[in-house]
Amino acid sequence: MKIAIIGTGYVGLVTGACLAYKGHQVTCVDKREGIVATINNMESPIYEPGLEGILQQVVSSGSLKATGDTKAAVEEAAVTIIAVGTPLGEGGIDLGQVKQAAQEIGAALKGKEEYHVVCVKSTVVPTTTDTVVKGILEQFSGKQSGEFGLAMNPEFLREGNAVADFMLPDRIVIGADDASSLEVMKRVYAGFEVPMVATNLRTAEMIKYTANALLATLISYANEIAGFCEATGDVDVQDVFAAVVLDRRLTPRIGEEIICPEVLSYLQAGCGYGGSCFPKDLQALEAYAREKGCNPRLVSATIATNAEQAERIVQRLEGALGSLEGKKTTVLGLAFKPGTDDIRDSPALKIIRGLLAKGAKVSATDPFALERAKALGLQGVTYTEDYEAALRGAEAVLLVTPWRQYVEIPAEKYVLLMAHPLVVDCRRALDRGRLEGAGAIYIGVGLT
Ligand code: UDX
Repeated sequence: MKIAIIGTGYVGLVTGACLAYKGHQVTCVDKREGIVATINNMESPIYEPGLEGILQQVVSSGSLKATGDTKAAVEEAAVTIIAVGTPLGEGGIDLGQVKQAAQEIGAALKGKEEYHVVCVKSTVVPTTTDTVVKGILEQFSGKQSGEFGLAMNPEFLREGNAVADFMLPDRIVIGADDASSLEVMKRVYAGFEVPMVATNLRTAEMIKYTANALLATLISYANEIAGFCEATGDVDVQDVFAAVVLDRRLTPRIGEEIICPEVLSYLQAGCGYGGSCFPKDLQALEAYAREKGCNPRLVSATIATNAEQAERIVQRLEGALGSLEGKKTTVLGLAFKPGTDDIRDSPALKIIRGLLAKGAKVSATDPFALERAKALGLQGVTYTEDYEAALRGAEAVLLVTPWRQYVEIPAEKYVLLMAHPLVVDCRRALDRGRLEGAGAIYIGVGLT
């Protein structure tokens, strides 16, 4: 099947490469000439494990090409997938790129006789596809919906795991305007033997937000309880949750074996969620709910708790050091989670800004995200690839992104390299006993 994909960010490019790998003929469209050339050169413009290997296969076999020409791509395809960004704008989701894509697709459909399905994959708030997108497509194509198909197919790709998540999804959700659109979308995913949820456009849109808001809520819940534990003293949030999850409703048993569902890892207290999805999606959902006259109490509380988490960590550090003025601090990890170079809404940046605001000097390191972080131009931060150099002479270190190489730093190194070996474990990834045994001072989220 011939498929056009508008937008080559994480979602668009992974979708394009994987659908081409599954046997479709894919054209990826992007306005940025450099990105088009990079893809056609079989290189991935983003760091995503496995993606470049697939790109090399599908571009060299001719199954995937990139272009800047939306019209040509849409004209020769049977389906166009909109995978452009939906950043947060003033008071809610910014649909600028979606609208622009819909206009160009609509214009391309004007002279096209064959049936064509337009599928929104970008994360958009409920009603966007059947009002905004449909309206623009009708206006610019001069056709009525029905003459062209309309679908909404949310993505559930985790950065760092996106190729595997696409190839082996937990479910495929297809919201469709009519039976013909659904049939075409089922053909797009013909090679996938996983549960398929066929529903309407609004439900598909709502599923995406509900899924992300649930996971974000678990994180904030764990962080809120962590704060209660810290205030109480002599209670470790990890002991608390370890016992809570032994409820069979959370960890079912098969014989003797305790099944530990992956979702429980979102109940890990830490420095708050970040990334390209959770922060933006929760705020978009909050704004959408308000606009609809609803009171998004839980969503707002999840956002507020998350916003405070980095501040609380900086305050605890300040409490331990007396003042942060002029103190040299080290931040291990800048990416919002290990396995990615993405620093969007990374808790590390919030912590760094908090440290700088209190007069601290910051030395930061990360195996993949240094260049992106440097580009932010934060005053008072030095960057180094070498974590030992980052630790040398520091009066406190904060483990923010639990990259394996940082988690495995021998306890003795902190004592050896730092002027004052105070270790703040923002992810509860370190061994307190070993650190204290080596002479370090340990502060961890969710315990005193
Ligand atoms: C998320 C969703 O998981 C994915 O389904 C959706 O389509 C896009 O948004 P992603 O942003 O890549 O994917 O990150 P994810 O791995 O879910 O992590 C999001 C945040 O949760 C991060 O800040 C991470 O540190 C935190 N997290 C993640 C946890 O606290 N615990 C975990 O086990 C995993």
